[in-house]
Amino acid sequence: MAANVPIILNNGRTCPVIGLGTWKSKPGEVTQAVKDAIDAGYRHIDCAHVYGNEKEVGEALKTKFAEGVIKREDIFITSKLWCTFHRPDLVEGAIKTTLENLGLEYLDLYLIHWPQAFKEGDELFPMKDNKIEGSSVDYVDTWKAMETLVQKGLSKSIGVSNFNKKQLERVLAAASIKPAMQQIEVHPWLNQQPLIDFCKSHDIAITAYSPLGSPDRPFAKPGDPVLLEEAKIKTIADKYGKSVAQVLIRYAIDRGLVVIPKSVTKSRIIQNFNVFDFQLSLDDIKELSSLECKGRVCSMGDTYHPDYPFNDEY
Ligand SMILES: NC(=O)c1ccc[n+]([C@@H]2O[C@H](COP(=O)([O-])OP(=O)(O)OC[C@H]3O[C@@H](n4cnc5c(N)ncnc54)[C@H](OP(=O)(O)O)[C@@H]3O)[C@@H](O)[C@H]2O)c1
Repeated sequence: MAANVPIILNNGRTCPVIGLGTWKSKPGEVTQAVKDAIDAGYRHIDCAHVYGNEKEVGEALKTKFAEGVIKREDIFITSKLWCTFHRPDLVEGAIKTTLENLGLEYLDLYLIHWPQAFKEGDELFPMKDNKIEGSSVDYVDTWKAMETLVQKGLSKSIGVSNFNKKQLERVLAAASIKPAMQQIEVHPWLNQQPLIDFCKSHDIAITAYSPLGSPDRPFAKPGDPVLLEEAKIKTIADKYGKSVAQVLIRYAIDRGLVVIPKSVTKSRIIQNFNVFDFQLSLDDIKELSSLECKGRVCSMGDTYHPDYPFNDEY
């Protein structure tokens, strides 16, 4: 279906299918980007404490509430618990900091950003011997603390991000509130079909991050292939009279996923939302999925951490 229909989460709440990504959006740019997105029709913003720009996202929300363009209940705001706040007694303080920065009383969705816990403290990336220093907190204990946030009204829904199948199984076995969402990297080079099938079988919705291949990721190396320049996707895009970015966004939506492309460029913010007048054929979705090449672009690099998620097959 081409229409802009929100997906329904396992707790009955709805989530708009396109959200604006905000990782790497500089504090000086993100306020305008969020305002432009809301004016273009976006009703979902993807945030995180570690992006270092939640105050500036909050300024845009404040303006749009004051202008009467949106009310709080019209917009879906996601944020994420950073790895240094996994210890159960730190979780409530972490969401309260995020809420204060965003100027909100509640989130729509709060995710455990990564399964790995890092050493608690002021450093977001605590380093020791040139490596990120881990902490032994079990993400299942973190999950139990996340559940209390729903009971306290601080987040309407809770979920996870970057969890593998085994990690999700452990959370599901202990949960009294099931994760509503799993946010993972998804695009044609990493189509994630096995993990998506597993999540769907447990009624966990999926958000596709880095849907355009994250060309501005800080760890990109010169000569790395660029998803937005993939010739086969360009051929499909030409057929629909759409851009490669629009086809990549539709690739997520037409597989039943939520998608959160990031941009700070007004014309692209508008373009990325202008995808509700076409739909990919099943053959084109298959063709795009056949580009799978384990092409993950986003990873934490702490492969030695016992909870590093990407050592398993999925
Ligand atoms: N949970 C996690 O661990 C995790 C990890 C990664 C990402 N995320 C979330 O997912 C969001 C999206 O992922 P991402 O930021 O990695 O990358 P992305 O959305 O795949 O790509 C963003 C890049 O594409 C450019 N771009 C956007 N629209 C375009 C268009 N129509 N044509 C050409 N270029 C375009 C942007 O440029 P300009 O901004 O300069 O326009 C930017 O350089 C993040 O911002 C974040 O919110 C979550």
